[in-house]
Amino acid sequence: MKKTFLLLCAGFFACSAVGQQVVVNTQNTSLVVSAPIGEQLKFVYYGNRLSSSDLTVLHDVENSNYNAYPVYGLTCPTEVALAVKHPDGNMTLDMVVDKVDSKQLPDGELTVITLKDKVYPFFVDVCYKAYSDTDVMTIWSEISNKQKKPVMLNQFASAYLPIRRGDVWMSHLYGSWGNETKLMQEPLQAGMKVIKNKDGVRNSHTSHGELMLSLDGKPQENYGNTMGVALCYGGNYKLRVDTHDDEYHHLFAGINEENSAYNLKSNETFVTPELAVTYSAEGLSGVSRNFHKWAREYKIAHGKDLRKILLNSWEGVYFDINQQGMDQMMADIASMGGELFVMDDGWFGDKYKRATDNSSLGDWVVDTDKLPGGIEQLVADAKKHGIKFGIWIEPEMTNTSSELFEKHPEWVIKAPQRDLVLGRGGTQVVLDMANPEVQDFVVKVVDDIMKKNPDIDYIKWDANMAILNHGSQYLPKDEQSHLYIEYHRGFEKACQRIREQYPDLTIQLCASGGGRANYGMLPYFDEFWVSDNTDALQRIYMQWGTSYFYPAVTMASHISAAPNHQTFRTIPLKYRIDVAMSGRLGMEIQPSMMSEEEKALCKTAIEQYKEVRPVVQQGDIYRLVSPYDDLGVASLMYVDTNKDDAVFYWWKTETFCNQHLPRIKMAGLDPEKLYTVTELNRIDNVPLPFEGKQFTGSYLMNNGLEIPYTHHVDYHNMTDYSSRVLRLNSKY
Ligand code: GLA
Repeated sequence: MKKTFLLLCAGFFACSAVGQQVVVNTQNTSLVVSAPIGEQLKFVYYGNRLSSSDLTVLHDVENSNYNAYPVYGLTCPTEVALAVKHPDGNMTLDMVVDKVDSKQLPDGELTVITLKDKVYPFFVDVCYKAYSDTDVMTIWSEISNKQKKPVMLNQFASAYLPIRRGDVWMSHLYGSWGNETKLMQEPLQAGMKVIKNKDGVRNSHTSHGELMLSLDGKPQENYGNTMGVALCYGGNYKLRVDTHDDEYHHLFAGINEENSAYNLKSNETFVTPELAVTYSAEGLSGVSRNFHKWAREYKIAHGKDLRKILLNSWEGVYFDINQQGMDQMMADIASMGGELFVMDDGWFGDKYKRATDNSSLGDWVVDTDKLPGGIEQLVADAKKHGIKFGIWIEPEMTNTSSELFEKHPEWVIKAPQRDLVLGRGGTQVVLDMANPEVQDFVVKVVDDIMKKNPDIDYIKWDANMAILNHGSQYLPKDEQSHLYIEYHRGFEKACQRIREQYPDLTIQLCASGGGRANYGMLPYFDEFWVSDNTDALQRIYMQWGTSYFYPAVTMASHISAAPNHQTFRTIPLKYRIDVAMSGRLGMEIQPSMMSEEEKALCKTAIEQYKEVRPVVQQGDIYRLVSPYDDLGVASLMYVDTNKDDAVFYWWKTETFCNQHLPRIKMAGLDPEKLYTVTELNRIDNVPLPFEGKQFTGSYLMNNGLEIPYTHHVDYHNMTDYSSRVLRLNSKY
């Protein structure tokens, strides 16, 4: 029997000590490390929650040979989390456990294991935080230099986890502009799988800093032991899984250290971002539900509030903003039952007018040629129509053709001795958020708008350029490699100040579409724009991927025009509505180009969405049939936490004659409850055979409903598209 480890735990649930083991528990999961004082910290277990009897024997049977936070220098060939160079040139670390602490925080319980180098005054706190009432814990490290001179950090991952080999599959997201969050699924094989970002500003356009691992074979949505990780960081990241000659896959996640070596000063502590980790025996959807619940509670601004239904002006008028046009759009969205109007790009500029995308960013004054009544008039008009008003800004950016750039060329990110490499419109440049003056400016952009117009309800915060030029005109010569890290520290400081002043404002993250969907930023933002591509068919695939890690409350999803402006595909309005309604519903269209019949359909949809909004935005997701499985149909549902109310979506993804689609079994319902089925957004001349009928949850989950493949409408209204949205309610 091992000696009992003395660890004081403030809360008796989340953390305990058995033998030399430290146990971090969430509701249904446990993480165990072995932490004998003076010896190495070893990983023991992560998975389903362990009983106290299993805990007592665990250390003897689990392979606990892996360092829980591997460091470089004395086992050189292995991948590591941390690699440094001491002031004397020594490249090695030899870390042992110094102490273990635990404390209760308002939102969870924190366990900190302090490691100390055997020779150098150099420390690492390995931190585990179990978030209350969730199945998510976060892991990160805090690296402290107590030497007299700086230590160079060459690698500094947040966390490391070994995963037992077998038939482990990875699900992750990959894409590009207009095609974000494509789901990729592949078995983990020998070699190194790296998922990374180096954009500097937008870190989720291409790959995402999150992944899931299906531990027992091919990924399944609603069963199978599955693990999920999400790096909570808005900047460059790197997730690596190394598989070589042993029994484990080795997962490392953290800031991408490429071109970012960090000079850690004497007495400075470097805090790495949190890696959120969860585990579910209910498959990929189970992991999603764990993340969603945690995120709504702790990691999204106003995550528990319902979002307003809005009209955004971008695809309706692009840069062609004018006072009368905005008033007309506001009247139209109000008449359809919408609650908010957002004026997008094109409203600003004095000396340089924002006619297209090649000027004026930074000059956040209203263009009085376009808007003689100013923002004040727009806000007053919104009030007149009984809706709220929102506005677009891109505060981290400027153009070389702007008054801001003329006044402050030293504020932009630029390499010394080099010409500026320019971005969007051939003139865009990134402001240096590392510079406190730039942070002040960015805060003031929001402040100036809000002070003059305190009734503004919503800001769309855009960012349409990567850091192309490596060079901070603010940072000293020996800290140029801190650029990416300091940019995001500066960004976060500005966000904190804005949130202190404007806690109630709704702020959308946009970055050339879905370039900024991450849990590093969402604590300051309410939602994100999934993609500049609003094509409903492609959105099914993108929103499917997005839903792996992000709940519907964050997923801005708009009804737009046909033919679609990005794919030129012509999709009937009913289908466009049914897809948009599975996220945070909005519109992005010129209503004056819509027929009265189309407006009426949107009005009905908005009315019905309001009824199911709490289920969609706050409910549990169950993905049923994946569009990526090419079965001709995709389907998912949301179920409220009491299992009283649910919304079921069914979208046909292709059409062939004599097609055979699967009948879809529902999930997440209470088998005993009786649910009344009602179709939403109905266009058929006759109701569906099950309309108004009651079924047990058990029938719906074991059998499912037989959904017709085409709509029963007049011949001239028939199309190759077909979709259904059903509400299942046990209370009426
Ligand atoms: C980006 C955004 C769009 C729109 C334009 C405006 O591309 O993703 O939604 O706001 O900028 O210029």
